[in-house]
Amino acid sequence: WGVAPKREHTARCDTDPLVLSAAALGALVAGGAGGYFLGKSKADIIEERYETYWPRKIMMVFGAPGAGKGTQGPKIVDKLDIPQLSTGDMLRDAVAKGTEIGKKAKEVMASGALVSDDIVIGIIADRIKEEDCKTGFILDGFPRNLAQAQALDAMLAANGEAVSLVMAFDVNPAVLEERVCGRWIDKASGRAYHVKYAPPKSMKLGPDGKPLPDSMKDDLTGDKLMQRPDDTAEALKKRLDGYKNQTVPILDHYGPKGIVKRIDGGAPITQVWDEVQGKLGKALR
Ligand code: AP5
Repeated sequence: WGVAPKREHTARCDTDPLVLSAAALGALVAGGAGGYFLGKSKADIIEERYETYWPRKIMMVFGAPGAGKGTQGPKIVDKLDIPQLSTGDMLRDAVAKGTEIGKKAKEVMASGALVSDDIVIGIIADRIKEEDCKTGFILDGFPRNLAQAQALDAMLAANGEAVSLVMAFDVNPAVLEERVCGRWIDKASGRAYHVKYAPPKSMKLGPDGKPLPDSMKDDLTGDKLMQRPDDTAEALKKRLDGYKNQTVPILDHYGPKGIVKRIDGGAPITQVWDEVQGKLGKALR
């Protein structure tokens, strides 16, 4: 697979014939045309080959609001060195910047409804062409319905590509409200915290036992954390309805392709990560 971290490519291919022949040719014709090979490191040659010929790792984190996509996604990013593309984060960014898309999305998002398909399909079609997606990417929050899934499949098929892994987080709906209503996020990175399950180091509680907003800061940057406008019990009901009626059918679409892996998202965060890692590994073999 072309998704293994660069370090691994180098180690695995120490005796690679392409590299050996490139090195030999470089040694024979040092200067002139041989400079092409000499100018490139062994790792560069291997990386170029993986990027050119191997399929990209195209995976999806899938689950209800609060299922853990935004919590486990960044860990997968660190492990595979491919970006997480969250349509929710991209839309929230557009809202914060007041762009045309942001203006259209603002009220819809706060109510818990879905933004129109053409907007999100356009966002993703542009985003996956960017340089950091060249060896793969993790879709988070997209596709959200069958029309989006079909549009995704078509845009990938145009390059002979397809989704290779759907990691579906199963969580009892009864715990989702507590998760979503206790969530605080770092706007810039999307890092998610939870007042009970994953508190930031800086958190201090007031006399009422609730966190003091000024004490909620990102562990890495110290920036102030925020709560999402749609993280209310009322908006969550609408988000869950949309998930059940429009998003869950996507699993029937990808299921027959043999690429859906189920994860027990109700377990503690570290345990969920253990399961995620195990299932990423199987997908890599
Ligand atoms: P989006 O941003 O995609 O939100 P969502 O799908 O509702 O998902 P969440 O971000 O709420 O859940 P998560 O699974 O990431 O939860 P997290 O890991 O943070 O979409 C928002 C809106 O944007 C949509 O409603 C729509 O309007 C619009 N939109 C986006 N994409 C769209 C599309 N494709 N088409 C149309 N509209 C679109 O976890 C939640 C909390 O639980 C955290 O505090 C975390 O610390 C905690 N937690 C996580 N795991 C555990 C655990 N195992 N145990 C205990 N606590 C845990």
